[in-house]
Amino acid sequence: MKKIPYNLYIHFDELSSFFKGNTNRKENFLICGFVSVELSTYLMGSILKTKEKNNRDKISHILQGIETQFKLLNSCDFILEEKGFKESYSKNIENLKLLDHSYSGVIDRITTSYFELSEKVKIGLDDQINKIRDYFFLVKLPVKRLDIADQIEYPNIIKELKLDELEYFNSEDEMFMITHQVSECWFNIAINELKTIDNIFENSAISDDKIGHHFKVVYETLLYLADNILLLEHMILADYHPLRVALRGASGGQSQQAYELFYISKKLFEKFLKHIESDNINIVQILENPKDNAVLLPIVNHFTNFERSLKNFFFQHYVLTSNIIGSQSFGSIGLDIVSLADKFVEPIFKEIDQAKYDLTLKTNYQYGNISGILILDKEGPTPENTEVHTTKIDAINTAVNGYFDAISSFDQEKWVDLFSENGYMEDPVGSRPYIGHQQLAIFFKGVIRFFSELSMTIESKHLEEDSVKIIWKAKAKSFNGKEILFNGIEVFKINNNGKIMSAQVEWDPSIIAKQL
Ligand code: HEM
Repeated sequence: MKKIPYNLYIHFDELSSFFKGNTNRKENFLICGFVSVELSTYLMGSILKTKEKNNRDKISHILQGIETQFKLLNSCDFILEEKGFKESYSKNIENLKLLDHSYSGVIDRITTSYFELSEKVKIGLDDQINKIRDYFFLVKLPVKRLDIADQIEYPNIIKELKLDELEYFNSEDEMFMITHQVSECWFNIAINELKTIDNIFENSAISDDKIGHHFKVVYETLLYLADNILLLEHMILADYHPLRVALRGASGGQSQQAYELFYISKKLFEKFLKHIESDNINIVQILENPKDNAVLLPIVNHFTNFERSLKNFFFQHYVLTSNIIGSQSFGSIGLDIVSLADKFVEPIFKEIDQAKYDLTLKTNYQYGNISGILILDKEGPTPENTEVHTTKIDAINTAVNGYFDAISSFDQEKWVDLFSENGYMEDPVGSRPYIGHQQLAIFFKGVIRFFSELSMTIESKHLEEDSVKIIWKAKAKSFNGKEILFNGIEVFKINNNGKIMSAQVEWDPSIIAKQL
């Protein structure tokens, strides 16, 4: 009979007795962070004690994780806290002494980071940490004695998780279990930071000064987690599979905290949207006018960074899982690995993504007069048509009428086919032309994407010696529902087969940008 609880692989339940939730955010941060350090040093000790061969990569990765955990602990806004741990001794941190002296560089960084932290909050391991430094021939660091009235127990994970009593399936189980529990510790911290931001959103005016710090902690925490799960890349697959089968497809997908993190971030973003809506402003306006929106722009950027770190986690998780069980596998909730890709491809804060797209389209028109001029300089002038402009009135009428009909009915195939093989479109005159059917199709796709409705009508037609000049007007609706009116003059050259050799548009595209 195996004694290891299922929850230790996936959920957080066993560890939750340590935590205070967001009722005392800093205390929670401190305990969560040290539970995580304890778990990591326990795992490292366990690997070193079994004298596992070729363990250097695993050990270096675990140590790098411990170093990052201390950096994250230092990023918490502790300032001479009134609460801290009682004097203590950690059996797990003592495992650092099992390392050989080639690791003294990383021991130096970890322990220096420890003392940086212990200047702000009492950890209670100062003497032990200095002895570890001494063991690695590193100078002892000055200890700042913080006398605090409110002392809490240093977390004893061995006792709480009954780690001494667990029986494992095989050598990789511990690694799998600890990686999940460390993730849960930091999910917990990230959730509390998000709840703090939520509180600030609820109770005071939104400002970067108040929330920037918390967003940064969440961002850094998720970056760390993305790296932490890659520890599992070191597992020997043959030793992992028995556990996987015993867990019967159970995965971090059942982590309630992972979902909570996602849920809170969405709620938080909705609150932000409501806030800017009540100020009668939208994200495009914030992005467009950074100086006028010096308070709101950093918040939009925080959400963007947060999204990046979440997606980075999901991306690394995707690569990890497909490396371990192959992309055709699926897990306990029936999602196959390939579908996990949606999580890092689809926008999380959709309104920011939409606003960036809106701004891109808007600026395409706003700066349409210079479209492609940099590359045009390099390419040189567009080659002149070798064929002469036709004198056949029927051919001219068919081509020109077909051209405006096809645009108005969004018929890409018909429109492209009206051009000769090397026919081109210069819109507006002076910009980089779209030459040949392939490029013309790209131009047309842009039109279809931008307008939800478009009606172009010919106002007048002027037959000239080597071209036909059309004065047109257009009534349209943009993709975001704005009514738009614009007009222009277009000069066509058409060959004897009735194909358009060139279409050059004289107009000011920024007229469209102004109406958006
Ligand atoms: C051997 C390593 C791992 C494998 C093979 C694996 C596999 C999977 C699979 C198949 C899913 C899809 C959901 C399902 O059907 O169960 C999933 C989801 C998930 N896993 Fe893992 N996982 C691994 C490690 C981890 C670790 C260490 C974490 C850290 C907490 C984690 C967190 C998650 C999360 C949060 C989801 C939900 C993703 C979503 O909603 O799109 N996984 N995992």
